[in-house]
Amino acid sequence: MSLLITNIGELVTNDPETGVLANAAVVVDGDRIAWIGAAAHAPEADERLDTGGAAVIPGFVDSHAHLVFAGDRAGEFAARMNGEPYTGGGIRTTVAATRAASDAELLAAARRLLLEARRQGSTTVEIKSGYGLSIEDEVRSLRIARELTEETTFLGAHVVPAEYRDDPDGYVALVSGPMLAAVTPYAKWVDVFCDRGAFDGDQARAVLTAGAKAGLGLRVHANQLTAGPGVRLAVELGAASADHCTHLADADVAALAGSQTVATLLPGAEFSTRSPYPDARRLLDAGVTVALATDCNPGSSYTSSMSFCIALAVREMRMTPAEALWAATAGGARALRRDDVGVLRPGARADLAVLDAPSYLHLAYRPGVPLIATVLHNGVPQ
Ligand code: NIG
Ligand code: FE
Repeated sequence: MSLLITNIGELVTNDPETGVLANAAVVVDGDRIAWIGAAAHAPEADERLDTGGAAVIPGFVDSHAHLVFAGDRAGEFAARMNGEPYTGGGIRTTVAATRAASDAELLAAARRLLLEARRQGSTTVEIKSGYGLSIEDEVRSLRIARELTEETTFLGAHVVPAEYRDDPDGYVALVSGPMLAAVTPYAKWVDVFCDRGAFDGDQARAVLTAGAKAGLGLRVHANQLTAGPGVRLAVELGAASADHCTHLADADVAALAGSQTVATLLPGAEFSTRSPYPDARRLLDAGVTVALATDCNPGSSYTSSMSFCIALAVREMRMTPAEALWAATAGGARALRRDDVGVLRPGARADLAVLDAPSYLHLAYRPGVPLIATVLHNGVPQ
């Protein structure tokens, strides 16, 4: 089945050879893009969608989300807005709720969030475990994540669970040994929260090197709360992504700039924890590849909206609208080491969003407005 999407007022391709096209058309064949060019020269297809001059963008690639959990922490959010600091300590509250939930409840809640994200234009979503923190609960979290996405990440090293409070190194040994072995069939990536109140550099290194040995790709929650060793560890170990990057020393920026490690910025977390935003301009000017993601989770960033993250990045982080859209699409794809998403070119996945707007600029210009009119995921209208 082929589909001609035509009368596109502005088509953002992220393909350096094609760039942004006016008066464009796209032909989708099955789950792939088959043709891109001027609407006037478009070939015929089985079906036709006239966008009426709207903008079309690649589907968002949300490369950092924690969707497998039970309950919420609205009260913690309210307390923060009343002056309480964010410490990450609330993660244990969600761990308790998640352990108490059934598989069916966890799957239904995660699917609901994934569909919420997809309706808002996210066609690739990475999903982490990290609210189970026992072998059994991490395995089922990742089994559930695997039902929803191919981008699954083992985050057993999220925090030290209450039962290991007096033996954090024992917990690191569990995560790096039997827990890792049990989750490996369901995980593509391994991640560690390397920060104050979570895991130090040595502990993070132990988990990441064990994960690499098991064949998983590496990602790191780095430098969210303090300018610790996370970013440099991520670069040293060849991680695909260092995420948060809120507190960076010059050496961190230099390390990222000379590396294949993407800096994934999560402005929803700074919004929701009322923290200073990361300095995207400093990273971009140094030549670092930047991605934007939601960090969707019940504690620090309970949003599934990539459009909201783009608006924050433009208004608060000195990214241009073009840089922010690239970071939310192609940048996310780089952070997941994917070349088939985040870009519209023949052969790429037919993942795209038709906006209820004439230009992608409106994503930041009209914050909070639902501008995602139609989403194609694997060529299928959602
Ligand atoms: O990415 N920083 C660690 N993990 C999450 C927060 C999780 C939570 O507070 O529940 C984050 O911000
Ligand atoms: Fe996170």
